Amino acid sequence: EEPSAALAVPQAGQDGLVLLRRVGVVDPASLDDYRAHGGYAALRRAFELGPAEVIREVTDAGLVGRGGAAFPTGRKWQATASRPDRPHHLVCNADESEPGTFKDRVIMEGDPYALVESMTIAAYAVGAHQGYLYLRGEYPRALERMSHAIEQARARGLLGDDVLGQGYAFDIEIRRGAGAYICGEETALFNSIEGYRGEPRSKPPFPVEKGLFGRPTAENNVETLVNVLPVLTMGAQAYAAIGTAKSTGPKLFCVSGSVDRPGVYELPFGATLGELLELAGVRERLRAVLLGGAAGGFVRPDERDIPLTFEGTRQAGTTLGSGVVMAFDDTVPLPRLLLRIAEFFRDESCGQCVPCRVGTVRQEEALHRIVARTGAAAADDIALLREVGRAMRDASICGLGQSAWNAVESAIDRLGAYE
Ligand code: NAI
Ligand code: SF4
Repeated sequence: EEPSAALAVPQAGQDGLVLLRRVGVVDPASLDDYRAHGGYAALRRAFELGPAEVIREVTDAGLVGRGGAAFPTGRKWQATASRPDRPHHLVCNADESEPGTFKDRVIMEGDPYALVESMTIAAYAVGAHQGYLYLRGEYPRALERMSHAIEQARARGLLGDDVLGQGYAFDIEIRRGAGAYICGEETALFNSIEGYRGEPRSKPPFPVEKGLFGRPTAENNVETLVNVLPVLTMGAQAYAAIGTAKSTGPKLFCVSGSVDRPGVYELPFGATLGELLELAGVRERLRAVLLGGAAGGFVRPDERDIPLTFEGTRQAGTTLGSGVVMAFDDTVPLPRLLLRIAEFFRDESCGQCVPCRVGTVRQEEALHRIVARTGAAAADDIALLREVGRAMRDASICGLGQSAWNAVESAIDRLGAYE
């Protein structure tokens, strides 16, 4: 039996939460309970506003994508909505696979109707009548709860031919991933839904123009979508007052590793790394913190003042990614950890392009040699790692190959991992 979602949310039930306010509080199987906790107020507001005004609210709120890339959601929706070719599609990317990321899972298990409602709003805004929820295969409980929520919403007229009696047709189909990290890349995800190999397509054209089945597609992460609910219920201005000017709103962070209270935390953008670590009960003898998961970068324990914003982490030469914070104390052998990360990328590379297919193997081999020498790195191994890393970053087709060297590079340059 998997641990329940509520257990992974140490703040469950606390006042002042926006995205997590219902998780661990509402009965995830009950549509009535969801409604009793404010559910479907945002969709009603969306129907009052109309699609163009919904997009304007989302734009004015400053909402940006929470999957890791921080692209402005309003711009993505506007670009999809304005395409003359039909049909338009909505895809929710719930293939959460970045090591250390489990926020979307917590939402789907703890507040599934929130995702059904926010997908309905997104579809209405971009003019889509069919939505796809691409759900990570290793999330059986999320699958069960989302399936139940979709069925209930359909039975109660909140999905189907006439949503909320407003004459708008929308329905959601669930597609399951089968364990490939690369299928979280949006265009590999489309290929997977279409029945092809999960290999990324070259961009442009971007999905807003040519996405699922070659149609204009808005593709959004779970956390991005559920942010639309407070944007509409609070109004864009009040939402944008949370966080910083450039990173607005609340953010979910997944904290794991050498902390006493691992789990998903909600904080406004702009809290510092140190504040988050304190909240999670960071242990002594911290050696390193990995931000943004395997595709992210390491920072030192003395860099606790880094503000948790997209601009703040960028300025500090690192990344926020999807909000992963993994803490490692000095009992963790860094060379082995780096080798494990390299194995992961080699394993998950789809093999379509040479820089990544070959580069991830060469990177792993060099890190193996270093571990075999009990962590001592020869100068030529480091030089090779840098050369291979640069080639992967510059010449890979997609984000997997482009970021496969990030963690190793930051460990060498920031942590002095092999010194
Ligand atoms: P990207 O920057 O290429 O694109 C981000 C989004 O903006 C995409 O939906 C893209 O279609 C859209 N976009 C970009 N330029 C556009 C334009 N000119 N017009 C219209 N749309 C445009 O980044 P990508 O490769 O989609 O995502 C990379 C991120 O994913 C990384 O930051 C990484 O942290 C994160 N990631 C998250 C995982 C997770 O489990 N949450 C797993 C792996 C990576
Ligand atoms: Fe596939 Fe890697 Fe190339 Fe991405 S970078 S297309 S995962 S081989």
